[in-house]
This record gives sequence, structure tokens and C-alpha cells, in this order.
Amino acid sequence: MAFSLAEVWAFHGQIRKDHAMPTPQPGIFAQGTLHHRHLELDLIQGVDDAALGSAVESLVELFAHPGGVNLVVGFGAEAWRRIADPEDIPDGLAPFDVAGLASTQHDIWVWLHGNDAGGLFDAAYEVVHRLSPVASLASETAGFAYHDSRDLSGFVDGTENPGLDEAFEVAIIADGEPGAGGSFALAQRWVHDLAAFGSLDVAEQESVIGRTKLTDEELDPRPATSHLGRVVVEDEEGEEMEIYRRSVPYGGVGEHGLFFLAFSSDPQRVRVMLERMFGQTDDGLADRLTEFSTPVSGANYFVPAVGSLPGVTS
Ligand code: HEM
Repeated sequence: MAFSLAEVWAFHGQIRKDHAMPTPQPGIFAQGTLHHRHLELDLIQGVDDAALGSAVESLVELFAHPGGVNLVVGFGAEAWRRIADPEDIPDGLAPFDVAGLASTQHDIWVWLHGNDAGGLFDAAYEVVHRLSPVASLASETAGFAYHDSRDLSGFVDGTENPGLDEAFEVAIIADGEPGAGGSFALAQRWVHDLAAFGSLDVAEQESVIGRTKLTDEELDPRPATSHLGRVVVEDEEGEEMEIYRRSVPYGGVGEHGLFFLAFSSDPQRVRVMLERMFGQTDDGLADRLTEFSTPVSGANYFVPAVGSLPGVTS
């Protein structure tokens, strides 16, 4: 079954239609959802490219899931190269590889989010079923909104995220470039040590993050080894590097943390931030947050424009 872009838009009528084509996957920008699911799948050995293309094509109608579920699908470098038109392959697409950090690259990643936990389960089940001829589920994480968009540490997460208009510029590859309308995503699961973090007094916790806990104000001056001290960084032109974050808390009382998710039109920005967090830049400073939380997974996915997906005609 093939879908026209107009049909995909009809599925997602709430997303702005006036933005320059090609059209990004709308679920990247759908905000305010309470429940999240991240599925990562590995291709089954020996599967041919045509079968892979048709399985991915079968996901497109789930953009119209009746439960109001937002669906975003991304691909590891190798899988995307197998099904993409050459002009839809962005420069710099590569598996996750940052020295010393866990790399758990998979081939397909599907992010589902919405406000109906039951509908979300149904959609996730359906996604895995539709991909089952070509890929098997390797990892699944269920995330949730915690209080007023806080990380489990109690600090508000997302405050300095770009607003919707700016987010398009930050996250989406510009028209005319390879992979236009698509976005690079980093999916990285962090495990928190809340007992250790909670043993610090609030002022000390605030100096780890670089913002106040209750009122969410930036510390002035920003401590050099605070999270903000490491991730607020300028590029060669003196412009602040921006990424668009959609992280959510996950887990239970036993194991828990942040499913970090960031979109960018340039994968170098996230890499630089991670290198600065883990003391891999010339100043040798590390982010104190890494004393209290550890990334146990890490994968780069390319999230193509809707019109670049197999079976969607423009
Ligand atoms: C355990 C993992 C993490 C936690 C708990 C966390 C938490 C936070 C919090 C509480 C803020 C301040 C509020 C806000 O502006 O959103 C923040 C800001 C930010 N974080 Fe993280 N973060 C984590 C990992 C990361 C990683 C891996 C990156 C990048 C690779 C990153 C990049 C950023 C950026 C760019 C900002 C905004 C800085 C600004 O412009 O003020 N974070 N994070």
C-alpha cells in the first residue's frame, strides 16, 4: 500500500503544513505526551532489501493510529543505506562511536508516544508484529512524564530546549542537502544513582546541574563542571550549539534513569557535548552529572523525511 504525503498530513492534521518541504516526521515535534515507548530492533540475517522496504512501508499507515499515538521511525546507517534513495542519505551517518561510552547500535528504532498507555501498548505491539518478518526486538524502554517535566533527580528537564519554530531549524536537515527533511537522533539510556545524588544537599545538587532545583533558574556564574557548564558550548562562529531534546524518565524503583533523546541536523553537536561531558576535550573537565548517572546504551539513528520513507509518494 502506498501513501501520498497529503494522506500522511491528514493523519497528522495538527502539525503545521506550511513548512518548506520535504516534510519531517511529525512525531518528532508532538509535545506534551505522557507515555513513551522506545523499541530497538535488529535486522534478521539474510533478509533482502525489498522485504525490508515493504515491512517499513507497512508502518506508514500507523502514523494514523486511532489511539492518537505519535510514531517516529529511525534507522541505523547500514539499514538506511539498504532502503534509501541515494539523495536521502545524509553526510556523516554512522553508527554510535564515542570513546569509552557504551555503543549498542541497532538497525531500526521506533519511538511511540501519546497519552493513552493502552493505545500505546497496542501500537508498539503492532509495530513489532509488522516488522517481525525482517527484524527482531532487541530492546524496549517504557518512559513517562514525571511531575512537571522533571528528570527523576527532581530537576526540570527541557527548559532551554528550542521552541517549536526554532526546533525545525535545529533538528532538521535543510532543503537541498542530502537527507533533507530528516534528522539525526541519539538514543541513549542512562541509569541514575538516585541514592548517591540524594545524599548531596540541594545546593550541591544545584551545582552539579547548574540550575536551581525548585525554581529552575540558571546559576550565575555557571560552575565549569556542572552539566550546563559542559553542554553549553559555542561553535567556531561563536554561535551556541543547539540540539532538540525529547528525553524522558523511565524505569521502576529498582532501576531507573533518563532515556536521553536528542535530534540535530548535524551529528557533530551531540558528539562534542558528550566529549565535553566525559572529559575528552583539551580542558580535561568532566560533567559532575556523570558521577551520578551512567549511559548503558547508545545508538545513532537517521529519521528520514516522511516522503523519503519507502512507499510514500510526494
Ligand atoms: C543523565 C542524563 C541527563 C540528565 C539527567 C540531564 C538533565 C538536564 C537538565 C536538568 C538540564 C537543565 C534544564 C534544561 O534546559 O533542559 C539539561 C540541559 C541540557 N542538557 Fe542535559 N541531561 C542529561 C544528559 C544530556 C546529554 C547526554 C546531553 C548532550 C549530549 C545533554 C544536553 C543538554 C543541553 C544542550 C541542555 C541545555 C543547556 C542550556 O542551553 O542551558 N544532556 N539537562
